[in-house]
Amino acid sequence: MTDPTNGIPKGAAQNDNVVALPLLGTQHVGVVPSAIGGEARLPALRSLFSNIVFETLGEGWETGEFGGCDVIIIPVDKSRISEVQKLVQRFSAGPLQTKIIAVLENADVSSIRDLVHTGVADVLPEPVTDPSLALSLERILAKQASAPSDGKGHGKIIAFMKAGGGVGATTMGVQLGLLLADRHQTDVCFADLDVQFGLAEIYLDIPNSISIVECLKSGSNIADTPFPTALAKHSSGLRLLAAPKEVVALDTMTAEIADALMTGMRRDFQTTIVDLPSEWTAWSNQVLQNADHIVLVTHLSVPHVQIMKRQLRVLEAQRLTNRPMTLVCNAVSADHLNALPIKSAERGIGRKFDVVIPEDRRAMLSAVNQGMDASILRHPTKISKSINRLADVMNGTLAINGYNKTLQQAWK
Ligand SMILES: Nc1ncnc2c1ncn2[C@@H]1O[C@H](COP(=O)(O)OP(=O)(O)OP(=O)(O)O)[C@@H](O)[C@H]1O
Ligand SMILES: [Mg+2]
Repeated sequence: MTDPTNGIPKGAAQNDNVVALPLLGTQHVGVVPSAIGGEARLPALRSLFSNIVFETLGEGWETGEFGGCDVIIIPVDKSRISEVQKLVQRFSAGPLQTKIIAVLENADVSSIRDLVHTGVADVLPEPVTDPSLALSLERILAKQASAPSDGKGHGKIIAFMKAGGGVGATTMGVQLGLLLADRHQTDVCFADLDVQFGLAEIYLDIPNSISIVECLKSGSNIADTPFPTALAKHSSGLRLLAAPKEVVALDTMTAEIADALMTGMRRDFQTTIVDLPSEWTAWSNQVLQNADHIVLVTHLSVPHVQIMKRQLRVLEAQRLTNRPMTLVCNAVSADHLNALPIKSAERGIGRKFDVVIPEDRRAMLSAVNQGMDASILRHPTKISKSINRLADVMNGTLAINGYNKTLQQAWK
């Protein structure tokens, strides 16, 4: 089965053959057919915008939900301008900020002016031509892609990836989340999107936390979920979106859901740490496209160096290597170092590790058994120093969130 929006096998694990993965987020435009002169016009529009999904809407736009639409195109006559105003108000109160293109019947200067005053994104006199519609859409969607409009959606997304299974990506992500939540008392969320085998719920000992599956079951747009109230809270203050309790298909998630989830997370949390599965899917790629910072965790061994190189090649193919990235070599022991010196691994990868974390099974075991009590990070163990260092090298990204001063002091 293929995802119609991007031509990628739905949920299929991706390997080195990555050229088909989408480079940009998909945008959704809902169209009331009569606004553009009937459904027959839709194929022409679709051919002009390959990264836009055009959906057909019913004629009764006044009460529609239009969940997930970035833009809707509706027909309007003079008598319905007040209904347009109500719709604009409804949209501006929601998280997605759906924009309206109003196609005005029997347009005259005064009704165009009245419609513009309602706050619609554009007014096009009927009959609407393909070029005028295309220019209008381009302008509105470009604006939406470049700037969150109301200052609500500025939270940062940090994506954790692993170069190999069991390398400690979840452990490091969770501990970073604890550190940020505990020391800085800011809104931090850990989103366990390792939907099949995620363990963050166990590591944090929050058995009643909800997952993406419950969020989807509610039926409303995932971006509308009030995450701070819906998600369980760890004693440190860290919120958790858990992995589902039972294994679910990877294509339970889609690129559209991932996008909406990131929108909601950015709105509700200053920082969201996302734990990704090993598999490359269209939706995990979408999360990475949303990420402000990528952390790639691996072990010190020849096979892990090879997997790391493979992951970096995929990231490069997806044009993701130009954003802040932190390479972590985790659980390094004397045996590892004897078998493969750090410098040799770095030569193999073609990049230096930003953080090297020692193996400390005892500290890890006690951390997990205590439900990752954040106080363990306050003790000066090798691991806690490493987590501090991890946050330190990410300081550039986190500083944007206002962590800068306190972090500088706390990590000396
Ligand atoms: N620095 C470390 N020293 C010793 N043990 C560690 C260290 N980091 C992580 N571990 C242990 O390694 C195991 C795997 O960790 P974790 O689940 O975080 O890995 P992962 O990369 O998320 O794995 P998965 O592929 O299952 O998602 C856990 O038992 C954890 O306690
Ligand atoms: Mg994991």
